[in-house]
Parts: sequence; C-alpha cells; structure tokens
Amino acid sequence: MPALPRIPSKSPSESETIMTEVVYPNDTNPMGMLHGGKLMQWMDTASAVCAQTHAERIAATVSLDKVVFKSPAKIGDIITIKARITRAFNSSMEIFVQAWARKVLSRETKLINEAYFTFVALDEQAMPVAIPKVKPGTAEEKRHYKQALERKTNRNN
Ligand SMILES: CC(C)(COP(=O)(O)OP(=O)(O)OC[C@H]1O[C@@H](n2cnc3c(N)ncnc32)[C@H](O)[C@@H]1OP(=O)(O)O)[C@@H](O)C(=O)NCCC(=O)NCCS
Repeated sequence: MPALPRIPSKSPSESETIMTEVVYPNDTNPMGMLHGGKLMQWMDTASAVCAQTHAERIAATVSLDKVVFKSPAKIGDIITIKARITRAFNSSMEIFVQAWARKVLSRETKLINEAYFTFVALDEQAMPVAIPKVKPGTAEEKRHYKQALERKTNRNN
C-alpha cells in the first residue's frame, strides 16, 4: 500500500454530509410509497460524498450491512439523509447513514432507514490506498468507533 496520507486523523464532523431530496411520483410504487432502491441510491450518494471528503480520494462502495425499511415515505415528503464516518481502518472506512421523512404540512418527521456502508479509498490505479484515521470526540462518536471494529471483524469472517 502507498505511503501514509499527509493528514493523520480527522474528526467525523469534518466530513458529515447532509442531503435533502423530495419524493416525486416517479420515485414511488402505485401506492405512492418511495421505492427502496431509490432511497438506497440517495443513501449511497450521501455516504460516498462523506467517505470521499474524509479520504480526499475516490472511494468505492464495497459492502452494505443489514438494511431495514422502518417506515414508508410518501409522495411529497422531504427526505433528509445524514452520513457520518464512524471509523477508518487502512483503506476502508465505515459510514453510518440515517434517513428521515418529513411531511410538509404537519412537519411530522420519522426515521425511515439506517445502515452502515463500507467504502474503500482508491489510488489512480483503482487499488486500495491508506486513508486518514478518525478521531472520535463525543461519547456517541467513541461508541460508534469502538463498535465499528466488531462490525468489520464480523463482515470479514
Ligand atoms: C474496492 C476493491 C478494489 C478492493 O479490492 P480487494 O481485493 O477486496 O482489496 P483488499 O482485499 O486489499 O481489501 C481492501 C479493504 O477493503 C476491505 N473489504 C474488502 N471487501 C470487503 C467487504 N465485502 N466488506 C467490507 N470491507 C471489505 C478490506 O477489509 C480492506 O480494508 P482495510 O484496508 O481497511 O483493512 C475491490 O473490491 C473492488 O473493486 N470492488 C468493486 C467496487 C465497486 O465497483 N463498487 C460499486 C461502485 S462504487
């Protein structure tokens, strides 16, 4: 693997990515419910921006942990997606992504999905490359950081 990157560690807040979308009829099934695949596409985009901002490299999605559609989003809902890095390893990094749907009129907001994406940073030859570490600050960041190692171990077994 090439030389270590010039930035040794970064806070998760430096790469936090928030993306907003609106559910249009073309994004839904005949009952007006947002397609799961469309939501996955938006979550993948937000997490890729987060990963690439942290790594300062092009990063490719390599895996996606258990995905649960907790609640449907409907036509007209505002979708907010938040992506935050939990931990960086050598070339790979784990991104925690959450999605909420908000009704415009009532402002009712529901968590509709959350998932862990893993990205690998790539060099110019599309080979894995070392990335900056994550420096967790808050108690929640430290919890996510610690648990990320267990998830990586389980993924690779
Ligand atoms: C990304 C890619 C180059 C990595 O190649 P590879 O041969 O698996 O590389 P390595 O075995 O050296 O693993 C590199 C890292 O990926 C991690 N990794 C590999 N497969 C993984 C998986 N299924 N889940 C989680 N992490 C994985 C390894 O643990 C390692 O992490 P580390 O460097 O932080 O320790 C290759 O898997 C690839 O090109 N995949 C296709 C990516 C793609 O097309 N994505 C969709 C478009 S973005």
